Amino acid sequence: MLVNITLIAVSFIVFATANNCDGSFPPGVGPTLTLNNVTLPSGRNFIYYLPQFYNGYNMHPAVFSFHGGARNATWQEDLTQLTNPYYNWQGISVYPQGAPRPSSDDDDDDDDDTGDTDADYQIGYWLSHPGKSNGGGLVNLLACNFTTASMFTAFASVSGAYYEDKLAIDGDPARDVPFLSFHGLNDTTIPYNGKPPKLEYSSAGELPKPVTYTGTFGIDDWLRKWFKINSLADSNGKVDVVNTTLYGGYVTQCVFGGPGSVNIIHYKENDLGHVWASLYPNTDCPSTNATRNLTKCPMGHYVFNATEVIIDYFNSFMQSGAITF
Ligand SMILES: *[C@@H]1O[C@H](CO)[C@@H](O)[C@H](O)[C@H]1NC(C)=O
Ligand SMILES: *[C@@H]1O[C@H](CO)[C@@H](O)[C@H](O)[C@H]1NC(C)=O
Ligand SMILES: *[C@@H]1O[C@H](CO)[C@@H](O)[C@H](O)[C@H]1NC(C)=O
Ligand SMILES: *[C@@H]1O[C@H](CO)[C@@H](O)[C@H](O)[C@H]1NC(C)=O
Ligand SMILES: *[C@@H]1O[C@H](CO)[C@@H](O)[C@H](O)[C@H]1NC(C)=O
Ligand SMILES: *[C@@H]1O[C@H](CO)[C@@H](O)[C@H](O)[C@H]1NC(C)=O
Ligand SMILES: *[C@@H]1O[C@H](CO)[C@@H](O)[C@H](O)[C@H]1NC(C)=O
Ligand SMILES: *[C@@H]1O[C@H](CO)[C@@H](O)[C@H](O)[C@H]1NC(C)=O
Repeated sequence: MLVNITLIAVSFIVFATANNCDGSFPPGVGPTLTLNNVTLPSGRNFIYYLPQFYNGYNMHPAVFSFHGGARNATWQEDLTQLTNPYYNWQGISVYPQGAPRPSSDDDDDDDDDTGDTDADYQIGYWLSHPGKSNGGGLVNLLACNFTTASMFTAFASVSGAYYEDKLAIDGDPARDVPFLSFHGLNDTTIPYNGKPPKLEYSSAGELPKPVTYTGTFGIDDWLRKWFKINSLADSNGKVDVVNTTLYGGYVTQCVFGGPGSVNIIHYKENDLGHVWASLYPNTDCPSTNATRNLTKCPMGHYVFNATEVIIDYFNSFMQSGAITF
């Protein structure tokens, strides 16, 4: 069964801008920061935005950002705000639209657990991604997969739902994969320490049927899978880690792997629920207490902007020459 992926994942890949860099725009594509809406012959739909200095001549990186369950591409754009001029993201922002689920499977949260199946995201073939929740789980799948891992330079996920049967635990991307992740310690949708499998009961008193939803990995276990993939552990299984407390003590940044490694970077967020961390109001944590869900956004808004950290991270690959224009 295909399990919804409730993550946000972001990754970048180099994106030849669908023309010959001759200054022309592809048919139907509008200028800078206007929404472009594309439906492929297969029926797959996505929206994308061009960066401010797009001119049709230069190559740009692209970030693919995948929405969580029960959300859509527009919501994801509002959430990540890659087009917010404050962030000054100089790449292409692509938001694939998942296909609707045939039936609305229940879960304990209205938010991300009724998401789309990975099969709905074949657009991932083309480019790269940060995603939230199921979208983050999807990013994880792309990062683990031999075929898709090489299509993207780096990966990022926010509040990722790393389902136990979908992790591709023993996945073999055949490369060291740079992966940046964020998770709130007060996440009740995809809890930091993992979500137990959910069993289905057809009526009271009956024995549970086989698993309906698999559980999710606790984040520490999930990180260990990545240490293995990137060969970060020494012969005793120990991994170099530098933990830095940031943003007034709310956030611990953990950089695993030490110098010379392709690091796995993780942000552990105190007092944050299943949301995309942002100081600025976003669709997870809107502007007023009356409109926010204070279980998810217990502090009202948060202490840093995940989008900013992700963009800096992606830019670091460009500066290091891993991406060329
Ligand atoms: C993009 O176009 C498709 C097909 O017309 C439509 O279903 C979808 O709602 C549009 N998306 C946005 C964000 O406007
Ligand atoms: C996306 O979802 C929002 C609510 O979450 C809704 O208002 C909007 O119409 C949806 N957009 C599309 C294109 O479906
Ligand atoms: C990796 O992705 C390719 C392309 O989507 C797919 O055909 C293949 O089954 C995937 N491999 C695994 C192990 O999931
Ligand atoms: C750093 O943080 C990680 C992840 O929470 C934890 O496993 C590790 O024990 C911490 N290490 C140190 C030296 O504090
Ligand atoms: C987050 O969870 C911790 C541990 O359960 C709890 O002590 C803390 O009060 C929660 N934070 C908020 C702001 O609700
Ligand atoms: C607020 O979020 C919590 C945790 O995700 C959820 O259980 C609750 O139903 C939400 N409340 C509202 C009013 O949406
Ligand atoms: C909004 O809620 C937060 C967290 O409960 C609280 O600290 C803050 O004072 C509230 N703001 C307003 C304007 O009520
Ligand atoms: C977060 O982003 C907003 C704009 O979206 C900006 O005003 C604010 O200064 C940023 N905060 C930090 C800590 O980067």
